[in-house]
Amino acid sequence: MKAPEWPALPSLLNPPGAPDNGDEATPPEDVIFGVSPAMQQVRTRLERIAPTNIPILITGESGTGKEVIARLIHRRSNWASGPLVKVNCPAIPGSLLESELFGYEKGAFTGANLSKPGRVELAHEGTLFLDEIGELDPGLQSKLLQLLQENCFMRLGAQQESRVHMRFLCATNRHLEAEVEAGRFRQDLYYRINVVSLSLPPLRERAQDIPVLVDYFLRQFSARYERPLEPLTPAQMAMLRAYGWPGNLRELENQIKSYVVLGTLQRVENESPHRSADAGARLAGEISPDGSFPLKNVTRQAIHEMEREIILKVLEANQWNRKQTAQVLRISYRALLYKLKEAGITRRRGSLAVQSPSEPAA
Ligand SMILES: Nc1ncnc2c1ncn2[C@@H]1O[C@H](COP(=O)(O)OP(=O)(O)OP(=O)(O)O)[C@@H](O)[C@H]1O
Ligand SMILES: [Mg+2]
Repeated sequence: MKAPEWPALPSLLNPPGAPDNGDEATPPEDVIFGVSPAMQQVRTRLERIAPTNIPILITGESGTGKEVIARLIHRRSNWASGPLVKVNCPAIPGSLLESELFGYEKGAFTGANLSKPGRVELAHEGTLFLDEIGELDPGLQSKLLQLLQENCFMRLGAQQESRVHMRFLCATNRHLEAEVEAGRFRQDLYYRINVVSLSLPPLRERAQDIPVLVDYFLRQFSARYERPLEPLTPAQMAMLRAYGWPGNLRELENQIKSYVVLGTLQRVENESPHRSADAGARLAGEISPDGSFPLKNVTRQAIHEMEREIILKVLEANQWNRKQTAQVLRISYRALLYKLKEAGITRRRGSLAVQSPSEPAA
């Protein structure tokens, strides 16, 4: 069923942006999912749920890529050819959010000289992406519940309801369950939007993906700022892998942007993370679900990291001559080849590529 016709009118607010097809700024999937087990789980789950019409709640700390994942889900959904309409709930003041979401009829309030469709209507036969849904005020929560339950809504000042069909995607970096318990978020709405949840891991739990992401950002920003592509040194890469990334992928992206422009990784370098025990544990990806750091695993991984750095330095000093490198290191050539493979070290197109150990060699 088609949504009612409406005149094309400018928005009262900053324009919602033309509904897009979800392609904007979406990195390729091998970059989005990298090689880490945590993201492979996300990928498997996403592949199962994206082509259904089920509402999905995407959770994760700030900067973990919730919006990137929402775009990808839309692209793989049954309504991929329809619009993806995003509503950033906290960005629009409460009183305006209602008219922005549901639209209004001429004369609905002072200044409403013409009728205007809301973003809900614009998302008809597409995806409505409600970002930071935890910020929605109680009045709007009830209206949204009605929309989810009955596919019906009313423009402000309208006499009758309109019907729409769409995929609902919501995202939050808050613990919505705690919000429900605190009485700030409706439990019935929570169950409706959270039919399936997709939880994105923080970057510190997917350190194996950092080389892939760094490579992607380096290419992006070198092209954008017309700078030569300068790969990171092994030591810099090790530092990035050990850093805690409170701002997640957004912070990594910004770090690489400033590296391309200024040539330094200042913030990360200031942290000198190698020395702290939790950095060692992060390197190992060995923080158990119960929060413990098994010392044996952490130490083993720290030794691997050091070994890797030393091998890379000696390789570079010997212009990547592996026979000479093995002699300098006093290990057999075969042992060196094994260690290179284990550490995921290859040399790509004349430049160094440090891969995650689980990534296949190029
Ligand atoms: N897998 C990825 N590959 C490359 N870039 C990514 C990836 N995930 C996120 N990004 C980039 O990181 C930044 C943050 O991503 P995004 O806006 O999707 O995060 P978010 O979880 O929605 O953050 P917030 O909670 O602050 O809204 C964006 O610039 C995005 O392009
Ligand atoms: Mg976001």
